[in-house]
Amino acid sequence: MKIAVSGKGGVGKTLIAGTLARLFAKDGFKVLAIDNDSAMNLSYTLGIDKEVKSNIVPISEMKKLIEERTTLEGAGPGVYNITPQVADIPDRFKVSGPDGLQLLVLGSIEEPATGCLCPENALIRTLLYNLFVKRDEVIIVDFEAGMEHLGRGTAKGIDVMLVITEPSQKSLDLCAKIIELSKKLGIINIYLIANKIFDDTQLDFINQKVNEWEVPLYHSIPFDSEIGKADLNGISPIDSNPDAKGVQAIKNLYSKLKQLKLELFDL
Ligand SMILES: Nc1ncnc2c1ncn2[C@@H]1O[C@H](COP(=O)(O)OP(=O)(O)OP(=O)(O)O)[C@@H](O)[C@H]1O
Ligand SMILES: [Mg+2]
Repeated sequence: MKIAVSGKGGVGKTLIAGTLARLFAKDGFKVLAIDNDSAMNLSYTLGIDKEVKSNIVPISEMKKLIEERTTLEGAGPGVYNITPQVADIPDRFKVSGPDGLQLLVLGSIEEPATGCLCPENALIRTLLYNLFVKRDEVIIVDFEAGMEHLGRGTAKGIDVMLVITEPSQKSLDLCAKIIELSKKLGIINIYLIANKIFDDTQLDFINQKVNEWEVPLYHSIPFDSEIGKADLNGISPIDSNPDAKGVQAIKNLYSKLKQLKLELFDL
């Protein structure tokens, strides 16, 4: 199953993507987490070893590799291969993390709004496009904030799109757009998730707002100071305090997604 996590900046995409990756891995699934964000935060949430983390170079910064894969023999300047060979890249550059999970740091796609076809983008898009999932394998993509990067290439093969919102109008507005675009791109299982919820009033506000949407609220995660604490200490929230209410709520989300996987692929 290929799960992608999207939403406005700072809503909790990385927290949710990383914690879900750990939960799938703990449960025995083969997990590949993909960091498609320039800030490279996913490794913290996953609890990747400091030493391993310090040696990670995002694929988008591997100038030599990009050049080698996108150069077209005999072509002039500005002409390059937009469907580079990438099949070997995940295995070559992924790193191992806790519970046997693996992480591939792609880095972000630059200037997507302009449809920039620079070699870095061609490589990253082709990689996202070619992430094929085997049975009992789970791929979790932590997308960069916003929706500009979402296109036919990057959305290909996404089985489940988790759209994360915080209790704010701005965040919900972007979710509405992401949901609309995801539908257009042919993604069938789209789920709205509220994060950083303080109280029922906020949940009511969101429920009211999405009342007319075709995608109802699927799950909610409370605001939890334990998550901030883990962040400050540079420790994965699931390792810092597995019983924290925020982590517990993501565990409940995990149970729903596991059931969904069963329904989609194994029945
Ligand atoms: N439920 C929560 N309770 C408390 N703090 C939270 C919660 N969810 C996320 N946070 C905190 O909010 C901040 C942003 O979370 P996170 O990095 O997961 O968001 P993001 O959507 O990936 O952000 P970006 O768009 O910058 O990649 C972090 O400091 C994180 O610890
Ligand atoms: Mg993030």
